[in-house]
Amino acid sequence: MTSNETLNKVLWKIPNVLCLVGSRAGDERNGMTQSWVTQVSMEPVLVAISVDASAVTNRLIRAGGSFSINLWDRDDTRPFVKFSKPAAFDGESLNGRPVFEGSTGVPIFAEAVAWMECRLHQTIECGTHDLFLGEVVAAEIRDDEALIARMEDTRMKYGGVKRGGH
Ligand SMILES: Cc1cc2nc3c(=O)[nH]c(=O)nc-3n(C[C@H](O)[C@H](O)[C@H](O)COP(=O)(O)O)c2cc1C
Repeated sequence: MTSNETLNKVLWKIPNVLCLVGSRAGDERNGMTQSWVTQVSMEPVLVAISVDASAVTNRLIRAGGSFSINLWDRDDTRPFVKFSKPAAFDGESLNGRPVFEGSTGVPIFAEAVAWMECRLHQTIECGTHDLFLGEVVAAEIRDDEALIARMEDTRMKYGGVKRGGH
């Protein structure tokens, strides 16, 4: 049988982006560090994010029906630590990072190198995480030259086997 250690090592070898997901339900807004992101359809254009079932972001996406995916500059990986717990909103920024409202009402990060705004299309319960498929309703690039942050730019890891799991 494959050990958890090997399984972790193999799963951590999957290349992943590191980005921030914006979410909102009513007056409650959040931003969270996200690495499980991929496109899953061309027509309609769908992207998927897998979000921990216990995360604030999960509750907000379910209630609000939309989310934003904010791709970040590789040279600024500091927000990923800060956004790995629920974010503070002060009316204009989340954890001090300025946001504006997309057409669906979700917060979008003004500093994102590129962003997508998605309307929730389907939710697939996977276990520890829910896979949210979102239809891209708006997207923009702020800096076409910047390199996008990826997991391997940091010493962080995410995923693998649930700690204490088998
Ligand atoms: C490098 C890194 C990558 C992460 N990737 C994901 C992810 O893809 N999905 C997820 O559910 N949580 C991910 N997390 C964990 C969330 O950022 C963290 O659990 C957060 O507190 C949950 O968000 P909340 O503020 O909505 O509760 C990641 C954390 C780090 C540090």
